[in-house]
Amino acid sequence: MPLKHVIRSAVGRKLFMAATGIILFGFVVAHLLGNLSIYLGPEGINAYARQLHQLGPILWIFRLGLIGAAALHVLFGITLTLESRRARPVAYIRKKHLRSTLAGRTMIYSGLILATFIVFHLLHFTFRAIGPQIEMLDGGVVNVYRMIVDSFRQVGYALAYVVAMVVLFFHISHGFASLFQTMGMNNEVTLPWMGRMSRIIAVILAAGYVSIPALIFLGLVIK
Ligand code: HEM
Repeated sequence: MPLKHVIRSAVGRKLFMAATGIILFGFVVAHLLGNLSIYLGPEGINAYARQLHQLGPILWIFRLGLIGAAALHVLFGITLTLESRRARPVAYIRKKHLRSTLAGRTMIYSGLILATFIVFHLLHFTFRAIGPQIEMLDGGVVNVYRMIVDSFRQVGYALAYVVAMVVLFFHISHGFASLFQTMGMNNEVTLPWMGRMSRIIAVILAAGYVSIPALIFLGLVIK
């Protein structure tokens, strides 16, 4: 089937949402594993950041793929939501949400909050336009360890990240479950298991991410 027909059909767009969701999920897992190297001290995370930047053009290919996946995910997410609202212009007088969850009903909002967080996050850690003063190491590279620790010592930054990671939990917990549904891997027996598994995966990821600003702010583990 030509690509334009796939994009025009709601099912085709759902498949795009699933495929781009898998790419973004892969990044979220890899990024967490990299970020956890902060628990190895300044040498750990600074060495990780240096190695990442040494990838040069490969890093850029990866970044472009990520930007493309994120753009399609947001675009199709918005159009699918608008279409389903247009299909039912008058809301139910009394809504019944059989098997639907809060996370599922608020995907568009958690998604848009995450998109806003990513812009804020890039301004913070990638472009360093906001946040505390940056310290440079020998060789002109940023002391990523200090940048993260100095930021999360401030209540505003720590809180903003913790809130964003809770939103990430909601988005992933439903996103993962609906991925199985799109792939047709759901029936009466597997559906509750898919939901449970999605929530466990989301809790592990969110807890890993939340631990960084929380433990730094509280002065535990990282001094
Ligand atoms: C505690 C939470 C987090 C910490 C400490 C953290 C840390 C960082 C740091 C230090 C960088 C800059 C890397 C560098 O250029 O050297 C970065 C980049 C980035 N982060 Fe995070 N991050 C966190 C959560 C997240 C989350 C939840 C997402 C996505 C949902 C995310 C998405 C990104 C993206 C897209 C980049 C740009 C990657 C690139 O330049 O190639 N981050 N993060």
